Amino acid sequence: MEIKTATSAGFCFGVKRAVDTVYEQIEKGKKIYTYGPIIHNEEVVKELAQKGVIVIEKIEELDDLLEGTVIIRSHGVAKNVYDKIRERGLECVDATCPFVMRIHRVVESESLKGNKIVIIGNDGHPEVEGIKGWSVSKTEVIESVEEAQNFECEIAQKVCIVSQTTFNHNKFQELVEIFSKKGYDISVVNTICSATEERQSEAKSIAKEVDSMIVIGGKHSSNTRKLFEICSKECEYTYYVQTLEDLNLDLPKSVKLVGITAGASTPNNIIEEVQNYVRINF
Ligand code: F3S
Repeated sequence: MEIKTATSAGFCFGVKRAVDTVYEQIEKGKKIYTYGPIIHNEEVVKELAQKGVIVIEKIEELDDLLEGTVIIRSHGVAKNVYDKIRERGLECVDATCPFVMRIHRVVESESLKGNKIVIIGNDGHPEVEGIKGWSVSKTEVIESVEEAQNFECEIAQKVCIVSQTTFNHNKFQELVEIFSKKGYDISVVNTICSATEERQSEAKSIAKEVDSMIVIGGKHSSNTRKLFEICSKECEYTYYVQTLEDLNLDLPKSVKLVGITAGASTPNNIIEEVQNYVRINF
């Protein structure tokens, strides 16, 4: 059995930076909180909990803290979260990915100019919630063709379009196209992160050539789910696992080449475990 592992599998730059930040802060021996789970990976979050890291889920929880360090994860947060941390006299360590931070800056300055902010992305996703929280006026989140077609605002108002970093590139273009035809004065800032695109296109090309494909990642990770969707279209025997324990390979004898990829929140050790298991057992 031969194995082909995607070079882009696993932590992207922003996630690695955020996880490293948490470990660095633990070393300092302070009380550590992360605003939301640092990454969408239960294994990593469990390990950090064992080291005393507490996850804060809601802004109200900050009101109960008397001391400690709050780490902002790579997804970023709304402006009011920073304000609250400061107000409470807590230390803030910001691990927001610089690519996400750029979107915050654009949204803040464009909304201050009075422009309408449109975010192309998945409403409710923590990154999108954070982006919304940098606009001084109401934003619009658009995910589908139908929503783009139904979008309306005053024709005199300028529209600034940004994107969630992990949004699909082609779908983004398709939605922008719809906006262009509506006659609004639009400015488009393509804020899609190339790490996602590269990971998706590598996964697609590996899935095309292998007999079976394994996609590793947390079940709440939207970028892993997307990878699974892409690979499933190319390869009939595509499996989605969080860790080695979920791997229940029921492969036909004819399988000679197995491909492996992983979402942006999957640590290297989990990828290696799966790789070794397949190598030894098949
Ligand atoms: Fe940042 Fe791109 Fe990762 S935006 S968190 S490097 S997917």
